[in-house]
Order: sequence, then C-alpha cells, then structure tokens
Amino acid sequence: MSQLTIEGIGTFEVAENKRLTIALIENGGDPLHRCGGNARCTTCKVQFLAGEPAEMNEAEKNKLAERGLLGEYRLSCQILCSQDMHVKVANPFGPSGLSDAGPTLSETIPSA
Ligand code: FES
Repeated sequence: MSQLTIEGIGTFEVAENKRLTIALIENGGDPLHRCGGNARCTTCKVQFLAGEPAEMNEAEKNKLAERGLLGEYRLSCQILCSQDMHVKVANPFGPSGLSDAGPTLSETIPSA
C-alpha cells in the first residue's frame, strides 16, 4: 500500500501499482480521462506536489512534449501508485460541463 494525497480532498491508502487515474477516481479526485487512459488527451493530467515518480514512459513523455506540458504536468493514466504521492487534479469532471468523465480505464497501462 502507498499513500495518495489528493489536494483539497484528503489522504488515502491505495493498492500498490494501481493506476493513478483509477486511484483518483476511487477516492473522489474526479479527474477527466477522456481518452480512456491511452496518453492521447491529457485531460487526466496532474501536478505533483510531492512524490513524483522519476520514470516516465515514452507515450507520456511524447504527449506532454507535444502539448508543451513537459516539466509542468504528468499524465495520471500513465503512472502507477508505487510510492507515496501528493497530487493536484488539473481537470476535475465536476466543473467541466461534459456529460461524462471518460471511458472506463483498464487496470493496466496499455503498451504504446
Ligand atoms: S486519460 Fe487521456 S491522456 Fe490520460
């Protein structure tokens, strides 16, 4: 288990290696995830306040670079809860005005 702190929401115990987007959904973080966790939309992006993973997969790196977000945000759908983390959800579903947050994510990160 690791601890996930969601800014403005609270701190939660999450299962080791759970996808961060799913952990956020399950614990009230309410992130958009419009591409279903495939590193295409960036709506699941978060800012790390602590515990940012050192590693970044190619899909995440390429998409963040393409959108000019590298160094500022991380894609929660490409990150596993492998250590204690403190994040701020950039695009919560609640105020988005959209009809749904996005398709259900698979339990594992799809390979690029
Ligand atoms: S859900 Fe689309 S990039 Fe993460």
